[in-house]
Amino acid sequence: MAGNRTFTMIKPDAVKAGHIGAILKMINDAGFRIVSMKLTKLSTEKAGEFYEVHKERPFYGELVEFMSSGAIVAAILEKDNAVEDFRTLIGATNPAEAAPGTIRALYATSIGENAVHGADSDENADREGNFHFAGTEMF
Ligand code: RTP
Ligand code: MG
Repeated sequence: MAGNRTFTMIKPDAVKAGHIGAILKMINDAGFRIVSMKLTKLSTEKAGEFYEVHKERPFYGELVEFMSSGAIVAAILEKDNAVEDFRTLIGATNPAEAAPGTIRALYATSIGENAVHGADSDENADREGNFHFAGTEMF
């Protein structure tokens, strides 16, 4: 049976810093299968829509500006227990609190510019994957 799916983005800070390859290697080594993947860029409008859930948070404007500031890698990943295991692989939102060896501990520079996104539930993983990919782009 196919595993569960999660959704991720390698954020503009990590793309600009040249960490796409290193992060994808960590994702592969952790046993995730790539279902969908693309290098793309969010408009401010699309970034605002993606993070709509954070609209009332004080960092929303900054977050939307940052996420639309450069290219991102969007991907759907598959593995048993994908959502939780991927959150473990990326580490805490704030890199200062991220466990050693996690993607954010290695590559994030601040709580805002924290290298990767990981969906926080099966429902959001599904919604976010469908936000970025058509059914014909899922393999
Ligand atoms: P993500 O959704 O990107 O995987 O991150 P997360 O679940 O660990 O954190 P969340 O609370 O969902 O926040 C979404 C993103 O907003 C930015 N943020 N900035 N300046 C701040 O205090 C602050 N707090 C959050 C981060 O880019 C965070 O990943
Ligand atoms: Mg989140």
